[in-house]
Amino acid sequence: MEWLKRFPRRETGRSDTINTLRRLMPYARVEISPIGRALLAAVAATACGLVIPLVIERIIDGPVAEGDMRELAIMCGIVLGLSALEAVFFLARQRLVIAPSARVEVRMREALYAHIQRLSPAFHDGWPSGQLLSRATVDLNAISRFLRYSLVYLVVNAFSIVAGLGILFWMSPLLGLIFTVIILPVGINAMIFEAKYQEHSEIAQDQRGDLTTHVEESVLGVRVLKAFGRSKQATAAFRHTAELLRKTEMKRAHVLGLLVASVVGLPEFALGVVLVIGGSLVARGTMSNGELVAAIAIVAFLQWPLESNGYLIAEANEAAAATKRYFALLDAEVTITDPGQPEPLPEPVRGGVVFEGAHFRHPGAQMDLLAGIDLEIRPGETLALVGATGSGKSVLAGAITRLHDLTGGRILLDGTDIRRLPLAALRGEVAMVFEDPVLFSGTIARNVRLDRDHLTDAQVREALRVANAEEFVDALPFGLETQVGEQGFALSGGQRQRIALARAVVGRPKLLVMDNPLSALDVHTEAEVEAALRRVLRDATALVVAHRPNTVYLADRVALLDEGRIVAVGAHRQLLRECPRYRALMAPHEVEVAGRTMP
Ligand SMILES: Nc1ncnc2c1ncn2[C@@H]1O[C@H](COP(=O)(O)OP(=O)(O)OP(=O)(O)O)[C@@H](O)[C@H]1O
Ligand SMILES: [Mg+2]
Repeated sequence: MEWLKRFPRRETGRSDTINTLRRLMPYARVEISPIGRALLAAVAATACGLVIPLVIERIIDGPVAEGDMRELAIMCGIVLGLSALEAVFFLARQRLVIAPSARVEVRMREALYAHIQRLSPAFHDGWPSGQLLSRATVDLNAISRFLRYSLVYLVVNAFSIVAGLGILFWMSPLLGLIFTVIILPVGINAMIFEAKYQEHSEIAQDQRGDLTTHVEESVLGVRVLKAFGRSKQATAAFRHTAELLRKTEMKRAHVLGLLVASVVGLPEFALGVVLVIGGSLVARGTMSNGELVAAIAIVAFLQWPLESNGYLIAEANEAAAATKRYFALLDAEVTITDPGQPEPLPEPVRGGVVFEGAHFRHPGAQMDLLAGIDLEIRPGETLALVGATGSGKSVLAGAITRLHDLTGGRILLDGTDIRRLPLAALRGEVAMVFEDPVLFSGTIARNVRLDRDHLTDAQVREALRVANAEEFVDALPFGLETQVGEQGFALSGGQRQRIALARAVVGRPKLLVMDNPLSALDVHTEAEVEAALRRVLRDATALVVAHRPNTVYLADRVALLDEGRIVAVGAHRQLLRECPRYRALMAPHEVEVAGRTMP
């Protein structure tokens, strides 16, 4: 069972942050003008902040030195005005950026959801649902946070640093040079940091996905865990996964700590050095008091952009890791797609199905599960499919609606290869009843209708009647509008199965594919559903996967699947007589039934 060891797949590793983040461009491009306006407002706010030290220089060297009170009042008014303007631009930036970044997030979330819907069941078998969930929530949050705050601040900081350094160099090339040399290691450190941090971020986000899977599975399987008294062990396993995440987070915090220490320490050290050297320049008379105060003010102004860059780079790395995880999912190829030039379904649909040399092999498997199936379900007939457990009956049934594509051969619906039909049209014609009846939280009516809004209430009721579910539904407190609870667990197994059956027969489909549809019913209910189903099957073509003779009795003919091939087709009685393999599968029941009916 090599194939069972395939997951989880974790492809963490070094990748270029900017190139990774660039993949967000198609989503952000539509919002380029509001984001641009927000950036402009942010840059304007910073520019106001940078001009203030220059005005202060004029105040000290002008009105303060000359004792001109009128001029002093005017200049101070300008400083206050600039501060107020800075606040206004800051507010504008905040307002402008929120709406577009929220829209980008929504668009990305929708794209992810739509893609998850298009991916085949085989893909979903290989991906733990917690990983999907964490990508749709935690990772998208990290991306959104980056677009909303970090991106803008990174641009603003870059502008502040370049503009601030420019002014410093212009005022005093010596001070500019000293300051630049001292803060240079911050940049180098940031580059080293980037490589490590992104890797840790990715591992942490992956482990968060594992944690989500753990919570999800233990909540869904809460009955099993309780019944077997395994709650303590489940908690211990959870703690282990949480511990792994904690360790990764500690490593991440350590890497961040090293960066922050340099990012906070060096600019402050630079401030001290500028003060000492600037002071000596003033003492020697090569610099005015005002220039020194302005230089100090600029260096002080640069503290925050330099310091915050540490956190912003961390956020950018986190967003890059999230982007990588998001696109790993979005890049997963949708293998079951509409044909390039679809052919319309021939009208009226009669529902005849023909398997021609159908092969199916799971990816990576050594052998074909279906090894050349030739089988015809004639229009209007009900064919039962019988075979040992694990022989591929469900796979064969699912291939009719292209839940998975054959790896060889073809399936014809009314003479047309199903791969040439539009997927939606094919799936609209074929109604399926699955082995395990899956219900969604919501009302009974919603579960039968499944968003097919054209179905009338009368049709829903008729379907419930066929599935022998009307009586129990009417006895529920709110009838059709009763909520079935998470995954329908408020209902019994047999009730869920009958709702799933109603969902398939509603609107009288022409082709029904039913995978063991009566398995969860008691003998009495089974007989009633069987009788009602007979009426539906009279006007439809159907393939019924059957484990028990009672289900086989619904069919006109029976096909036996064995070792990947259809080894016998015929009436139930005939196969019992002529096919030992069939007898071996069905006879124990036969004896039982006979025993009961013939005292
Ligand atoms: N990725 C895989 N690689 C190889 N074999 C796989 C893979 N996934 C599933 N299988 C096998 O394929 C078979 C699937 O068969 P299927 O579910 O159609 O059986 P079935 O006839 O419906 O059985 P049952 O009567 O128990 O419902 C199983 O034997 C299963 O172990
Ligand atoms: Mg099955």
